[in-house]
Amino acid sequence: METTVKVKEAAGKLGVLVVGVGGAVASTFIAGTLSVRKGTGLPVGSLTQLATIRLGKRNENRFPKIKDVVPLAALDDLVFGGWDIFEENVYEAALHAEVLKPEDLNVVKDELETIRPMPAVFDRNFVKRLNGTHVKPTASRRAYVDRLREDIRNFKAQHHCERIVVMWAASTEIYIPQTAPHESLAAFEKALEDNDTEAISPSMCYAWAAVSEGAPFIMGAPNLCVDIPALWELAEREKAPLCGKDYKTGQTLLKTVLAPMLKTRMLGLEGWFSTNILGNRDGEVLDDPGSFKTKEVSKLSVIDTILQTEVYPELYGHIYHKVRINYYPPRKDNKEGWDNIDIVGWLGYPMQLKVDFLCRDSILAAPLCLDLVLFADLALRCGFHGIQSWLSFYFKSPMHAPGRVPEHDLFIQHTILKNTLRKIIGEPTLDYLD
Ligand SMILES: NC(=O)c1ccc[n+]([C@@H]2O[C@H](COP(=O)([O-])OP(=O)(O)OC[C@H]3O[C@@H](n4cnc5c(N)ncnc54)[C@H](O)[C@@H]3O)[C@@H](O)[C@H]2O)c1
Repeated sequence: METTVKVKEAAGKLGVLVVGVGGAVASTFIAGTLSVRKGTGLPVGSLTQLATIRLGKRNENRFPKIKDVVPLAALDDLVFGGWDIFEENVYEAALHAEVLKPEDLNVVKDELETIRPMPAVFDRNFVKRLNGTHVKPTASRRAYVDRLREDIRNFKAQHHCERIVVMWAASTEIYIPQTAPHESLAAFEKALEDNDTEAISPSMCYAWAAVSEGAPFIMGAPNLCVDIPALWELAEREKAPLCGKDYKTGQTLLKTVLAPMLKTRMLGLEGWFSTNILGNRDGEVLDDPGSFKTKEVSKLSVIDTILQTEVYPELYGHIYHKVRINYYPPRKDNKEGWDNIDIVGWLGYPMQLKVDFLCRDSILAAPLCLDLVLFADLALRCGFHGIQSWLSFYFKSPMHAPGRVPEHDLFIQHTILKNTLRKIIGEPTLDYLD
């Protein structure tokens, strides 16, 4: 059914503030976007830049590009900034990350050098393997939120931005459980006053600051952060969109294609063993058991949800699912992910699938960052607020309304995304029977 969404024009500059702006993902995203807007790079992997959308009936053959029919912010209007615990500008950070070649970075060197991180809010108890030097002086959680809000406002004024999007591409924090201070806005506010440094992580300070400023907040790591009802309540009050969590880039992307295939064909599954080697800073952080646990929880939920283990006990009742991440410096950002999948066919006969994905982590993540920034800004201009489950397509642990089951199947997520775009532009949603 068609509904009309009133969309505010994408007028003026859009400030993109990235937490962890000196990291591999952030610097690859920013350098790549600048190169695309210069006309020297191709935005491979980005739906907002390359994908088409079918409009009307099948026999109409209308497949315009998304960016030609959906009112997205123009790449020329993006202004980048952010925070990091290291002082390097984004050019230096990108060189160190060793994802893009120096010759590709040199094309946008001048612009990258102007992007200098603001001092970060950092607490080593939440990321044990890093020791940041470019950090705000120690303060209470409340004071941290206030400083970050000032940063956002100053950046907006200094760069003449109409709107801001804040995206987390910083390190994965240790696993923390949801506790009473997370359960409501009032409880969280009290915890800020009480300086509860156990319950309130640095990422929550960034999210709280962004949403308090009415900016969309995107969570690219598996941190608890966006899962807490307190933040949902704040986002409703401030009318800010929230999305997350944990970019779906490599192994989990494949899982969310292969697992639906097994279920669609009613093939059984006995076990799924996934292991990875990677040697970037993210790998080093994830070598710490606390940070790994956060990632593990995010990666493990996918298969059970897709396969509906309780609905199909005879096919999926006893799955052994294991995920390993091994820090192996020689590989740098070029992760290798292996999957051994023990499947079951007719009369219970066993078979195996083996996947060896030699990928590049940040090369896969960068186009997601660009799409998420543009779609989160679109959501804001559409007046959408709170959890944006239509952006599940991009995440390993997609946010969903309380009490709802998350949607993990990549192609269902894709349909939801495109149907939301159709609604936004006042086109009928897709019906495969027409
Ligand atoms: N690349 C992928 O495919 C992928 C997929 C899913 C999730 N992620 C997540 O994205 C995040 C970034 O990945 P990466 O490879 O760029 O890692 P990275 O280690 O290269 O970058 C993280 C950056 O965050 C900074 N940082 C850490 N704590 C901070 C804080 N409190 N405030 C500001 N900056 C802080 C670090 O100094 C570093 O520069 C990680 O959490 C990773 O798990 C990446």
